[in-house]
Amino acid sequence: MRALTFHGTHDVRVETVPDPRLINPRDAIIEVTATAICGSDLHLYNGVIPGVARGDILGHEFMGRVVEAGPQSTLRPGERVVVPFTISCGSCFFCQMQLFSACDNSNPVESQDASELAYGHAMSGLFGYSHLTGGYPGGQAQYVRVPFSDVGPIVIPEGLEDEQVLFLSDILPTGWMAAENAGIRQGDTVAVWGCGPVGLFAIQSALIMGAGQVIAIDHYPHRLDLARGLGAKVIDYTQTDVLEALMEMSGGIGPDAVIDAVGMESHGFAPDNLMDTVKQKVGLGADRGHALRMALMAVRKGGRVSIPGVYGGMVDKFPLGALMQKGLEVRSGQTHVQRYSQDLLRRIGEGEIDTTFLISHRLPLEEAAEGYRNFRDNQNEWTKVVLKP
Ligand SMILES: NC(=O)c1ccc[n+]([C@@H]2O[C@H](COP(=O)([O-])OP(=O)(O)OC[C@H]3O[C@@H](n4cnc5c(N)ncnc54)[C@H](O)[C@@H]3O)[C@@H](O)[C@H]2O)c1
Ligand SMILES: [Zn+2]
Ligand SMILES: [Zn+2]
Repeated sequence: MRALTFHGTHDVRVETVPDPRLINPRDAIIEVTATAICGSDLHLYNGVIPGVARGDILGHEFMGRVVEAGPQSTLRPGERVVVPFTISCGSCFFCQMQLFSACDNSNPVESQDASELAYGHAMSGLFGYSHLTGGYPGGQAQYVRVPFSDVGPIVIPEGLEDEQVLFLSDILPTGWMAAENAGIRQGDTVAVWGCGPVGLFAIQSALIMGAGQVIAIDHYPHRLDLARGLGAKVIDYTQTDVLEALMEMSGGIGPDAVIDAVGMESHGFAPDNLMDTVKQKVGLGADRGHALRMALMAVRKGGRVSIPGVYGGMVDKFPLGALMQKGLEVRSGQTHVQRYSQDLLRRIGEGEIDTTFLISHRLPLEEAAEGYRNFRDNQNEWTKVVLKP
C-alpha cells in the first residue's frame, strides 16, 4: 500500500510499504477514505518529539471503511468508521474511569521504559505518534490496523459526509475537552491562545457551553478571521499588548478561564521565546512555553487554566508563583476521545456543530509531503489539510 513515512526533520515521503494485517482477535483493518494533518504532526515533522524512527507511518486523524475484522471485533466489513487517535483497551483501571488516553494496556511493554522515564508513567498507545506511545503505524495511508476495534471506532450513519465527521478522530473532541477543562460557566470571559484547528474548535465549544465572550489570540489574519466568524473577539498579539487588552476586556480582573491551544512551539520574538527556541534547537529538551506563561499571567485570581496544547518535555521560566499565589486550577491531557464521540456525533448530525469551515486544502495522499510543508510554512492560509488516499 501507499503511506506517508517519516525520514527525518522536514522529510516525509509517500512510499510503498507492506499492507497491514490482523494480529490480535480484536483488531480490524480499515481502508482509509479521509485523513488529516494535525498541529501535533508538525511537532514530529519539526523534530521536537523524540522517539520517531525512519520509516514510521504518520497520521492519527483518519476514517474509512472496515475491510477485515478479527473474531472479537464488533465491527463488520463495509461499515464506515471514524477512529480515535487514542488507542484504548476499554477495561483497564484508567479506561474504566473514561481516562482513555491513559490506557494501561495499549502501549506495548517494550515502549514503556522511555515513556516512564520522560513522564513517570507510560502513556497509552497513539496512532502514528512516536515510539513513546507504542510506535503504531498511523492513518496517513491506504490501510491501517486498528487494535481494540471494539472500543475506539465509531460507526457513522449514512447521510453524513466524511468531512463532517473526520475530526471526531481528534481535534473536535480536543477542542471540546479543552473547553470542558476550562470549567466554563454561563457568561464567563474565556481567552484562547492559538487559532489553529484546536483553538477554533475550543472557541466554538466554549460558546456552546455558555461563555459570555471568547477572546482569541493569534497573529495570522486569516485564522483570526475564522475565529471572528465563530463569534470570538480577536487580538493580534503582534499589534496589541495582550495582557493589557485582556484586563480591559474583562472589566479589570482578567479572564475567568484561559486555554492554551498553542503548545510547545510558540511563535514570536518575546525574550523568553527566543531563549526557548535556542534551547529547543540544541536539544536541551525545553519546550517553547511562551503562550502558557502568558495565559498563567493573564487569568484572573482563582481562574481556570486548560492546556490542550501538546508539551513534550520541560518548560523553564514557568510562573509557578502566579499559579500558586492566584490559586489557579489547571487541567490538561491528551484527549479522552472515546468519552465524547457519541455526544459530538449527535451534535454534528443535528447541525449544532459544523466541522468543515476550517478545511482549507484537500489533496491526494500522494501529495501529502506538499501538505506538510505548506501547513507548516503557510499557516495563515493553510488552516487544515485533508488527504484522500
Ligand atoms: N491534547 C490533545 O489531545 C491534542 C490533540 C490535537 C492537537 N493538540 C495540540 O494542540 C496544539 C494546536 O494544534 P493545531 O492543530 O491547532 O495546531 P496549529 O499549529 O495549526 O495552530 C497553532 C496556532 O497557534 C498560533 N500561535 C503560535 N504561537 C502563538 C502565541 N505565542 N500566541 C498566540 N498564538 C500563537 C499559531 O499562529 C497557530 O495558528 C498543538 O500543540 C497540538 O499538538 C493536542
Ligand atoms: Zn491531531
Ligand atoms: Zn485501557
